[in-house]
Amino acid sequence: LAGIYKNVIGTDTSLEQLEFAPKLPNVRYQQTSPVISMGELEQTVSTQSSVDLVYIAQAMHWFDLPAFYQQVKWVLKKPHGVIAAWCYTVPEVNDSVDSVFNPFYTVDSDPYWEPQRKLVDDKFMTIDFPFEPVEGTDNTGPFKFVAEKMMDLDDYFTYIRSWSAYQTAKAKGVELLRDDKYTKTSSIQHLMEAKIREVFESVGSFFSGGDHIPWCDRDIINGCEREAAEAAEGDSEELKRDTIMRLSWALVHSKQSEDVQRGIAMLEASLANSSPPLLDREKIYLLAVGYYRSGEYSRSRQLVDQCLEIAPDWRQALDLKKTLEDRVAKDGVIGIGITATAVGLIAGGIAAALARKK
Ligand SMILES: C[S@@+](CC[C@H](N)C(=O)[O-])C[C@H]1O[C@@H](n2cnc3c(N)ncnc32)[C@H](O)[C@@H]1O
Repeated sequence: LAGIYKNVIGTDTSLEQLEFAPKLPNVRYQQTSPVISMGELEQTVSTQSSVDLVYIAQAMHWFDLPAFYQQVKWVLKKPHGVIAAWCYTVPEVNDSVDSVFNPFYTVDSDPYWEPQRKLVDDKFMTIDFPFEPVEGTDNTGPFKFVAEKMMDLDDYFTYIRSWSAYQTAKAKGVELLRDDKYTKTSSIQHLMEAKIREVFESVGSFFSGGDHIPWCDRDIINGCEREAAEAAEGDSEELKRDTIMRLSWALVHSKQSEDVQRGIAMLEASLANSSPPLLDREKIYLLAVGYYRSGEYSRSRQLVDQCLEIAPDWRQALDLKKTLEDRVAKDGVIGIGITATAVGLIAGGIAAALARKK
C-alpha cells in the first residue's frame, strides 16, 4: 500500500505487532483500543470522509463488526471509498505433511481457538459484509488466491507458535507442539525434508525469489517517477524529499537491474547531503536492499550492520541480514542439495472481499 498511496496509517491494538511492521516514510503506525470511540478515531486515525481505502489483513474476524463498519462508513470518502479485507487459512504443503497437520489443527488445537476463527475457516464466505460490490456482484468477493512462501522447519513451527490458539493453550499449561509428537521424532520433519528435495528439483529459482523482500512493478515505479517530477517543480522541500524516498524505495525493489542501479545512485547521492537521521536510516536500509538485489552481498551486509547499529531491533534489517547470511551460505551449496530442514510451504485458501461503501 505504501507504494500506491501517498499516506498510509497502519493500526493495531498491539504495540508489539506494530513494532514488527516495516518502517516506511509514508506510513504512520497507530496503536488503537479494541473498541475505539468516534472521538478517538477522529483524533488518532482519521477525520470524516478522508480515507480512500480501509484495508484489513487477517484481522477482521476479531472486530466488533457492526461498530467497525459504522466507523468505516464514517471515515471513507464518498462515494468512491473502498473497504477491502482478506484472510489466509491454514498452510498446505503436500498430502503427506497435510495429513499430519490437519488433525493437529482440527483436533489438537481446536479447543483453544476463539469462536470467531470459524469465519477464517469459512474463508470469510459467511462474514457479514454490508457493502456494495465495486463493479457489480460478479466482482465482489470472497475471491480465492494463493500465496506461496518458502520456510524452513523452524519457521514453520514459529508460525504455529504465533497462533493465538497455541498461546492460549500454553497459558493453560498445554504444549500443543509436544516434542515427542511433533518437533523431534515426528514424521512431519521427515516428510518436510523429503518435500524440500522435491521443491528444489522443481523450483530452480529459490535464490531469486525465496526471500521476504517485496518486488515493485513498473506501474508503481512510473507513478513514483511522476510524483517526484511534479514535486521537483514545487516549493515544498518536504514533499520533494518524500517523493524521492518513495521513488528510491520503488527502484531498489524493481525486477530490472537498471532500476536498482538507479535507485542505488539516487540513494548514494542523497546520503551525501545531510538529512534528518531517521531518513538517513531508511536510506541506508534501502541501499542495503539495492546492493543485495544486485548481488553485492558484502556491501549490503556492511550497510545492514550500520542499520542495526542505529536500531538493533529493527525487524526489517534483521530479516535482510538473515536473508544475506542464508544466501551466502546457500550459494556455496547450490547443486549438491539444500539444507535438509528447508521446506516449501504453500499457504492456500485465501479469501478476499472488495466492495464499495454503500
Ligand atoms: C494475524 S494478525 C495480522 C496482523 C497484520 N494485519 C498483518 O497482516 O500482518 C491479527 C491482528 O489483529 C489485531 N487485533 C485483534 N483485535 C483487534 C481490534 N479489535 N482492533 C484492531 N486490531 C486488532 C491483533 O493485535 C493482531 O495483530
